[in-house]
Amino acid sequence: MNLLGLDIGTGGTRAVLIDENGQVVASAASEHAPFRSPHPGWAEQDPEDWWRAAQIAIRDVLTSTGTAPSAIGAVGLTGQMHGAVMLDADGKVLRPSLIWCDQRTDAQCDWLHERMGRERLIELTCNPALPNFTLTKLLWVRDHEPEIFARIAHVLCPKDYVRFRLTGMYAMDVQEASGTLLLDVANRRWSSEVARVAGIDEAWLPQLFESPEVCAKISAEAAEATGLVAGTPVVAGAGDQGAGAVGMGILQPGSVSATIGTSGVVFAATAAPTKDPLGRLHTFCHAVPGRWHVMGVTQAAGLSLRWLRDVIAPAASYDTLTAEAEQVSAGCEGLLWAPYLLGERTPHLDSQATAMFYGITASHTRGHLARAVLEGVAYSLKDTFTLFAELGIPVKGVRLGGGGARGPLWRSIQANIYGYPCDVLVAEEGAAFGAALLAGVGVGAWADTDAACATAIHVAEQIAPDAAQVPSYASGYTVFRRLYPALRTIREGG
Ligand code: XUL
Repeated sequence: MNLLGLDIGTGGTRAVLIDENGQVVASAASEHAPFRSPHPGWAEQDPEDWWRAAQIAIRDVLTSTGTAPSAIGAVGLTGQMHGAVMLDADGKVLRPSLIWCDQRTDAQCDWLHERMGRERLIELTCNPALPNFTLTKLLWVRDHEPEIFARIAHVLCPKDYVRFRLTGMYAMDVQEASGTLLLDVANRRWSSEVARVAGIDEAWLPQLFESPEVCAKISAEAAEATGLVAGTPVVAGAGDQGAGAVGMGILQPGSVSATIGTSGVVFAATAAPTKDPLGRLHTFCHAVPGRWHVMGVTQAAGLSLRWLRDVIAPAASYDTLTAEAEQVSAGCEGLLWAPYLLGERTPHLDSQATAMFYGITASHTRGHLARAVLEGVAYSLKDTFTLFAELGIPVKGVRLGGGGARGPLWRSIQANIYGYPCDVLVAEEGAAFGAALLAGVGVGAWADTDAACATAIHVAEQIAPDAAQVPSYASGYTVFRRLYPALRTIREGG
């Protein structure tokens, strides 16, 4: 039996086909149109574009290997989280989706906190209102496009829209639903109280499932469009962070990942919903039934490096920039990067935060700027480890993922800054791989997610912190922690 994982990301959609040993048989990808930003801080994409890319990626992965579609035992979905997809009663998209990094909803966050009480909201959903979360995006549409709001009949997240096109089913898993701010995260069900107080009709919300549960089947129409076989089971899947954690084996309390993609995430599995009373971490249901997770998010992680490259060295490859960064000593001779290009989530919860290089002198080179970015992103992720320590969340081991795990320099910077030995996996295939594992669990290829990961996931190498460098990074982190408060004071006219 083969299993298909589909990741509706921000930049594109990726399809990964695995076998019952959890080995990747083939993968294919199709790009999305870049998100539109008609005003600073806005980010919108067209759901129809995700569906277009999904059809191409599925067809390509099937044809590239000659895999018989009938050999696919199940499909698992994952994707960028939090985006609001609004549909009318006929399932037609009402407007472009406001996606995860759209920052326009500060006023709606304030409204919600005032209306419900911030503490009550955290009590019910385990999280405060943030512009990233789906509910605040719906409230923006209520306030600015009431004629569209009046026509909403269904609300989905990006991958769940693709599921709808694949199966005709309105469904969502509890991990994804945790990021809507409409879920009672502790009890893994929609929160009627939040929906009522926010003025959201509960009938708009899709049926909920645990991530490995089969929730629908490929329709005849979608079979025609993709080459899959009608009737193929589709499991609920999870948001990219949940499925990505499954794909890295972050399942048991104490296991932690640090993944650097466009955004950067430090993710820890927990046995119970562990809330930060100040709401600085996200507390969500895990893609593993009966478990939860916490995570801290750096909005512009990989994006910081891409931004730097595009601005100062558009013709240079990342390898060239990294090679120049490698020539510079740890700590960049006092140069620091505060990575708040897209505001910041953890720990500052400040959509208006801005980025900064601190400490530039005439002797700094392009390599210093590049290294400062690599270090600054890792310092920002370290803020989440600091919160874990404060809240007593155990860290027994750290696995590195995403672009930050690919080259030796960023790996060792992370190990030195976090101060933990960091594991790198044999094959780190991202969220689509995790979604394929969830699909396998759904149709009995493995007994559960623990068994699936035990078969499929192996550690290649462990990077130990370098005792000679840890102290200089520790003092760098002390200075880094002073940058954000200073930036905020300046912004507020202090
Ligand atoms: C998680 C988050 C991002 C998006 C985009 O909270 O916002 O990871 O899912 O990938």
